[in-house]
Amino acid sequence: MKLEIIDLHVSIDDKEIVKGVNLTINQGEAHVIMGPNGSGKTTLAKAIMGHPLLKVTKGDMLVDGKSIKEMKANERAKLGIFLQFQNPIEVEGLGLLNFLNTARGAITEKPLQYKEFINEIKSASKDLGMKEELIGRSLNHGFSGGEKKKAEVLQMHILNPKIAILDEPDSGLDIDAVRIVASNIDKLQKERNMGMLVITHYSRILEYLDPKFIHIMKEGKIAREGGKELISEIEKSGYSDA
Ligand SMILES: Nc1ncnc2c1ncn2[C@@H]1O[C@H](COP(=O)(O)OP(=O)(O)OP(=O)(O)O)[C@@H](O)[C@H]1O
Ligand SMILES: [Mg+2]
Repeated sequence: MKLEIIDLHVSIDDKEIVKGVNLTINQGEAHVIMGPNGSGKTTLAKAIMGHPLLKVTKGDMLVDGKSIKEMKANERAKLGIFLQFQNPIEVEGLGLLNFLNTARGAITEKPLQYKEFINEIKSASKDLGMKEELIGRSLNHGFSGGEKKKAEVLQMHILNPKIAILDEPDSGLDIDAVRIVASNIDKLQKERNMGMLVITHYSRILEYLDPKFIHIMKEGKIAREGGKELISEIEKSGYSDA
């Protein structure tokens, strides 16, 4: 699967936030976006997933050459696109297991037997260092910041996307959790040959990922692109010259 973002412009309440982004992600490629707060990274991610409050005013998004611009979020999910939220919401009363099973059933053609599903959840949540009682709770309800991030990666594991967009999977995680979550993401990406777009502020997560491209987003545009060497430059001089 190939995702092409072409000259994408996105507005919220008639204010343009994303101002002409071009980006191509092929299956199997890991990409990273960094950039200052408020530069439009989350807005770009939500636009790719089809957030209903965002307006694409110009440009297009293609999956294998076909436009997904008019598709609803659930249709995009069915195609194999996944978004991990920067700030996951809490849904009291919706069991995490029930949510994952229903979502999985809605987007995959191959339903799992319940026992098989539970075993997969147990093994994935163990790999992520999640407390077992969490999977018996309501979706993110009362989860700590780090537990929410892990629950999002668990979702990615179960929903098995072809292209995954991860919006700050490392924020709010303690040192050990960054290592665990990042190595999990890396393993899933490689084993399943996923295309991946990781948004982050910290170079630490990049010790565990192997991104082909680093993109620096500034004021709604991709200001610079390169390989991992860009990171040390940014660490030294910040974003002012990027
Ligand atoms: N619902 C909204 N209404 C009005 N403005 C919004 C809305 N959502 C985002 N914005 C504005 O759009 C700009 C870009 O926000 P966005 O969340 O995409 O930035 P970001 O690059 O992800 O930042 P961060 O690194 O802090 O997560 C910000 O100035 C923000 O205030
Ligand atoms: Mg953001």
